Amino acid sequence: MEKNMESAESLLKGQIPSAGTINESTKAALEDAVLSPRFYTTNFAEIDQVKIDLLRREWDVLMAEFAADKNADHFQRPADMDKDYSKINPELYDEFVDFLISSITSEFSGCILYAEIKRKVKNQDMKDLFGYMARDESRHAGFINQWLKDFNIGIDLGFLAKSKKYTYFKPKFIYYATYLSEKIGYARYITIFRELEKTPELRFHPIFLWFERWCNDEFRHGEAFALIMRANPKLLSGINKYWIRFFTLAVYATMYVRDHSRPQLYRAMNISPTDYDKKVLRITNEITKQVFPVMLNLDDPRFYIYLEQMLALFQKMDVYKKKGGLLAKVMVPLLGVRVGLVFVKTYFLPVISNELPADVRMAPSW
Ligand SMILES: [Fe+2]
Ligand SMILES: [Fe+2]
Repeated sequence: MEKNMESAESLLKGQIPSAGTINESTKAALEDAVLSPRFYTTNFAEIDQVKIDLLRREWDVLMAEFAADKNADHFQRPADMDKDYSKINPELYDEFVDFLISSITSEFSGCILYAEIKRKVKNQDMKDLFGYMARDESRHAGFINQWLKDFNIGIDLGFLAKSKKYTYFKPKFIYYATYLSEKIGYARYITIFRELEKTPELRFHPIFLWFERWCNDEFRHGEAFALIMRANPKLLSGINKYWIRFFTLAVYATMYVRDHSRPQLYRAMNISPTDYDKKVLRITNEITKQVFPVMLNLDDPRFYIYLEQMLALFQKMDVYKKKGGLLAKVMVPLLGVRVGLVFVKTYFLPVISNELPADVRMAPSW
């Protein structure tokens, strides 16, 4: 992993002031809980073999969009916003900081993975794509860091890259998981942006002003994975349908639980985490029609009942974790098993099968 940090770091150079020493926020970003953003590594030789010939025309159009780089100068904190923006409602403070740290960790996690793929492959299509995406994610991470400074927080990304554990995912799992997280990222940002457009007085921090053009980057990243999968239909058939269901549910359920652990953040924007998540999942499900042959049925009333059950179990787990001691050592894994059982139950709910459209590309129209 030594080399890849250098190349991800060199991308970030000039964007991110290194904090030098490990601080509390870096520690928070290092936490390896089930729900916190992870760092990934994969089989680079296999990605080097990816062919997109089946969708060459669509691919070239997408690459031209990446090359046009419409957001080149978007992610700069403007000079007239150099005052301290950390003076926010104390009830909100911790959740907002937590939100920023988990966001910067995901952006940086994407940046490292994409930069590393670019460095390791020779296939020009993959080299171009992952180079563009690493460029975008480094900008996103750098931009969050520009605002974190107000909170006296500097995430030492170099240290983070060296110290965080890397999870190995086969390339196909990278495609499913990353496709979903790019698209759900789009849906999350655009939903917040649209809400705050209606109620600008609730915009308690300027970073939300950037969300619209920001999420167009994420949408485009998702388009690239959609093309990769559609150009390699094997990834979307047979046993892989079961993997797609698995990743979709894992991504959806993780978001549901994580968002409900930040009630103040959503209250401040006058949205309930439940309504917000339902909206985000509806948008994401709609988008996945471009590529996934199966979709979760969000209208099955059991779906949200089960998500609520998982949430309640996670909340119980948190209570025990905070208490610590012997009881926690027994109860936390037990509750973990129960979460697993509910997950399985949710997994086996009937799904909706989906006829793939002739035209893969979709526009970010929400
Ligand atoms: Fe990003
Ligand atoms: Fe992205």
